[in-house]
Parts: sequence; C-alpha cells; structure tokens
Amino acid sequence: MKKSKTIYVCQACGARYLQWQGQCSSCHQWQTIVKQVVDDSPIKTWADADVISKTSKPIKIQQIAIQRNPRLTTVDQEFNRVLGGGIVLGSMILIGGEPGIGKSTLLLQVSLELEQKVLYVSGEESAQQIKLRADRIGKHENNCYVLTETKLEQIFHQIKELSPELVVIDSIQTLTTQAVDSAASTITQVRTCTAQLLEFAKRKHIPVILIGHITKEGHLAGPKVLEHMVDTVLLFEGDRNYSHRILRTQKNRFGPAFELGIYQMNHDGLAIVDNPSDILISQKDDQSSGYAIAVTVEGIRPLLIEVQALVSKAIYGTPQRSCTGFNGKRLNMLLAILEKRVGFSFGDKDVFVNITGGIKVEEPAIDLAVVMAVLSSYFDLSISQWVCFAAEIGLSGEIRAVPKIETRIKEAQKRGYKEFALSEYNQASNHGHNIRLRSFDKIEKIIKPFFSP
Ligand code: TYD
Ligand code: MG
Repeated sequence: MKKSKTIYVCQACGARYLQWQGQCSSCHQWQTIVKQVVDDSPIKTWADADVISKTSKPIKIQQIAIQRNPRLTTVDQEFNRVLGGGIVLGSMILIGGEPGIGKSTLLLQVSLELEQKVLYVSGEESAQQIKLRADRIGKHENNCYVLTETKLEQIFHQIKELSPELVVIDSIQTLTTQAVDSAASTITQVRTCTAQLLEFAKRKHIPVILIGHITKEGHLAGPKVLEHMVDTVLLFEGDRNYSHRILRTQKNRFGPAFELGIYQMNHDGLAIVDNPSDILISQKDDQSSGYAIAVTVEGIRPLLIEVQALVSKAIYGTPQRSCTGFNGKRLNMLLAILEKRVGFSFGDKDVFVNITGGIKVEEPAIDLAVVMAVLSSYFDLSISQWVCFAAEIGLSGEIRAVPKIETRIKEAQKRGYKEFALSEYNQASNHGHNIRLRSFDKIEKIIKPFFSP
C-alpha cells in the first residue's frame, strides 16, 4: 500500500523538517524550505523494470572478473586526461557549469566523436536544436542517438530498446520519476533519479554522464549528496568575456583530482588548446609595472599564468581589496605579512589583484607571484617579463617549497623563461637546467634583487 507523508526540505542543503520554517537551521539560508510529499513505500527502481537480474551474491575478490578495457577512450584527449584516461565503464560522471558555458556542446561533441553507440537524452532542447548544434560542430560519421525526454521510466525503456554503450543526460534537473511525488528539479526528484541511474550504470556496466546546473553561489544545484553519489565531478568554467573554457576535476574515484583541461569555444565547437600558457599570458612588448608570472601545476599539468596587481592611494575612507581569480582572504594575509615582516604600509592603499584569462587559482604556489605583482605596482617598477615565480609564503614571511618543482622549471624553460625564483628549500633537487634558478628563504630578501634600480 502506498504510504505518503508531507515533509519540508531545504533546497539548499537537503535538511528535512516536519514543519515549515523561514530559515534552515542547518545551512542558515532563508526561504529555501519547501513542502514535499514523500512516498514511504519501497522505491520503484530500475531493478523492478525486470531488465536486470535481481540476484547479487557475495563473491571472493580473486574471482571478480575484470574487463580488458575498462575505459571508453574518446577522441578528445583533454576530456580523457581530465577523467584520468577515459570514461570508466559503469561509472557515473557529473558535469556542472553555469548556463551557456558550453556543457551541452562539450558532451554532444564527445558523443559525436565516439565510435560506440551513444544515447544523448535532452530534457532541455528539441531534437532540431541538437541537430543544428551537431551541424555546427560538423562531425557526421557517428553512432549517436538523440532522445528528447524527461521521464526517467521512458528513458529506461528506450535504453533497453537501444542498448547504448554510453548514456548522456542533459540535464539531471529536468528529469522526473514516478517513484516520487514532487516536481522536477526538487531535491527529492534529483536525488531519486540519480540513484536510479546510478544503479543502472553499476549493474549494466554502462557509463552515464549527467549534466548539472550550478546555483548562483556556484554550487551544483541539488543536494550535496549528489556529489557523493557520483564517481566523478567535473566543473566546466570560464569567463564570458573570454573564449577559453576550463574543465576541472573536483572529485574522481578513478583518477587524479584537480586535473585540468583547457578548451577554446570557436564557431564550430570546442577546440583543445595546446599551449594554454600562451593564451593566459597577455602578449605585451612594453614593460609595465604590476605584472608577475606564476608557474602553477593543476593536476599533472604545469601552467604559466599572469598575475596583475594595482596598488593605488585610497580616495575613500576604507581602502578596497579586490581579487579576481585569487582568494581575497589570502590576499589580505599576504598584505599583512608584507606589513609586519617587511614594514610596508597598505593601510591607505587600494589593492586589486587579477589573474588574467578568467582563470581561478587555488594553489598557494602563486603567493610569491602575487606579492611580486603587488610590490611591482607599489614601487611602480616593472619585473622582467622573462622571470617567473613559484613559492608559497608562510606567516612569518618565509618562502616555502612547493611540490612538483621540476615540472614547473621544465615548463618555464620550455616557454623561454630566463629566470625562475623559488624557495631555498626546493633547491636541492634541481640541477642541470639551462634557466637561472634564484632561491630565497625570506620575503624581505627578495625585494632588493628585483626592485633596486
Ligand atoms: P551550450 O553548450 O548550450 O551551454 P550549456 O549547455 O552549458 O548551457 O553553449 C552555448 C554557448 O556556446 C552559446 O552561447 C553559443 C556558444 N557556441 C559557440 O560559440 N560555438 C559553437 O560551436 C557552439 C555549438 C556554441
Ligand atoms: Mg545545455
């Protein structure tokens, strides 16, 4: 017998309440709690569709058969690398990103390039719209089927008929299942649909890629639990003002996290960027102040990025601190270190820091470049554009070692840089590079060599 009850669920964090309340006690957000009817009878699942065997027995670990090629390799090398070597069979991948960033384009492109049979399910666009996009991307020799459907049961039915080797769902928020009684895109619907697709993926050994929307705050819409359920979470990011897009792993059960792929959105789809450092560093001939080049490593890939800073006299009472692509709290910390350890005064100065190219960097290894860009603007003295930096800065002003220094030095050398400033504690492991390594142990010691006229 069907038993249903009414509960109140926070749409931001998924907390459940018996009564409505204005503010969620768990995540403290206002007006996020909505009424939902939940069905307490056992959930109707993919297993009930009588397509898969219901028997699951424990087996000895030695007896588990491993398939020869457990991954689907796509033509897109960046996509493969970000996933740790291709799409793992039976895995569930979630790709999040802001509207219009190119999620549908990326996955349609991947689907069109695959030899295997792909079912591309769209709940957002009509078949004609998808065809127009496919024509724009211009790849025709393929095995890709399009289904415009939002009802999960119907999708499962079509999967059974077609037997695809990869299923793409665009997007998970548009799906609904009869198993629960709430509207599309509510937490319960998103979670139940994902759970059923996950069960399908694992049992049938077919990978499923979900496209997910991102909320205003930049989180994946839907409960946090969604991120725990899937095997891999990828984020597709970019700045509307630039044509390049960054595909980043946030979580990966089958490969390294924090891997990064860079694409460029062209009129005919997304193209791989071979030399990302070239597009991330603005080509300039003149030597202006306020620039420093940082060498970061995202995943296994080294990347040269440009940090820009502007230090100017604060006209209004409270000096402003503003960061684009860098953590604002970290900037405050670096400024405090410069005040305390070196004796600068930023109390009456506005400080702006910007990572060019719309890229966001979390790695502390760019600390030194940020400090150098700030000081370059402060003194109004430029730093040679053939010098790059990679070091973290500690609270006492010490210049700390960073991981993968060899990879960073090689990349800088490959790009023609002449000098590389790093921590003294990194020094031991590198020799034989034809780039001048300059090592420092304290922030106060780096100022004179770079800024004395
Ligand atoms: P889309 O894949 O629809 O984004 P999402 O699914 O993340 O919402 O991308 C749409 C944008 O990409 C749109 O502004 C048009 C642009 N675009 C190109 O510039 N070139 C192309 O070849 C394609 C297909 C789209
Ligand atoms: Mg889309």
